[in-house]
Amino acid sequence: MEKTTETATVNSQTGEEERMRDEYQKLIQTLPKESNWDGGYLYLYQGCWCPSLSFQGLISFQRHFQVDDTDVILITPPKSGTTWLKALAFAIANRMHYPLSQSPLLTSNSHHLVPFLEFNIYHENPFPNLENIHSPRIFSTHTPYALLPSSIKDSKCKIVYLCRNPLDRLVSYWHFIGKLRPETVEAISLDQLVDMFCRGLTAHGPFWDHVMGYWKASQEMPNKVLYLQYEDMKVEIVSHVKTLADFMGCPFSLDEEKQGMVEEIASFCSFDNLKDLEVNKTGKFHTGKQNNVFFRKGEVGDWANYLNPTMVERMEKLMEEKLEGSGFTFKRGFIYDD
Ligand code: A3P
Repeated sequence: MEKTTETATVNSQTGEEERMRDEYQKLIQTLPKESNWDGGYLYLYQGCWCPSLSFQGLISFQRHFQVDDTDVILITPPKSGTTWLKALAFAIANRMHYPLSQSPLLTSNSHHLVPFLEFNIYHENPFPNLENIHSPRIFSTHTPYALLPSSIKDSKCKIVYLCRNPLDRLVSYWHFIGKLRPETVEAISLDQLVDMFCRGLTAHGPFWDHVMGYWKASQEMPNKVLYLQYEDMKVEIVSHVKTLADFMGCPFSLDEEKQGMVEEIASFCSFDNLKDLEVNKTGKFHTGKQNNVFFRKGEVGDWANYLNPTMVERMEKLMEEKLEGSGFTFKRGFIYDD
């Protein structure tokens, strides 16, 4: 690009960024809001409770993201196994570029390798250059189906959705926010978090709209939306790795299968292996957040150690109502009981 053209482009982008910031400030003031655990707010935008941290990024992502038909978008409600799914998808898609013994996952947390569209990519820059990433590009988001840019919905790109039973997810979230809470903000109790959940007040929620939005899309477009549950992956990961590879358009060859590549990826991305990598024990994000906050127990059914019967009954009754007639049910949590 010539220097004058380059300068003109930068100037017009800066102008556009300023215009967007103004517009965003005006918009946010018009939205209903509720206090969030971090001392910030959840804003009700297009039916979704957006955390203040990701709001501007979400709007830029909605407006500017240019999808490719070969893109793979990983979508989760927070604390549903996003870190795991990112590691698996990255290892599957990049196995031709790096043997596992040289995988970038050994030195980078999977959130660095598969960034969030709203939290990372568009949060930092409304006009990121995403063109030089080799195909399939893998991105992630917590955005509900209804709020996805129509370019994603209308393209041939693939969506992989992963959810987790709401009881374990809530307990996982409670621990997570306990570690990230600013010292100046009072800790939130499990009772308060259950209450917020039942009022729909979860980041990117209501939770039931999130899971139902993608459930319906997966029923209508099974070739576009792969719907996974954390509990199923914990019971049988090898077949899930194969399904994921097929769905992403990079199936394992017979030779790879014979060599045990599927099992190797499954075990490389296991909780125990990733958790114990130095990068995940001591590494940090540029924001200072520790990589180890994404690894706790990695179990199914841990909710029983934290939630009392009243909390469980309240959440389950509500979920039954919300999921009624959809044909979708969560694994309750005790894997051998389901
Ligand atoms: P727990 O807090 O129940 O242990 P997310 O990645 O969406 O933030 O979800 C975090 C949850 O996934 C945490 O659950 C974490 O321990 C678990 N997790 C992280 N890596 C995992 C892996 N490789 N396999 C299974 N679970 C994993």
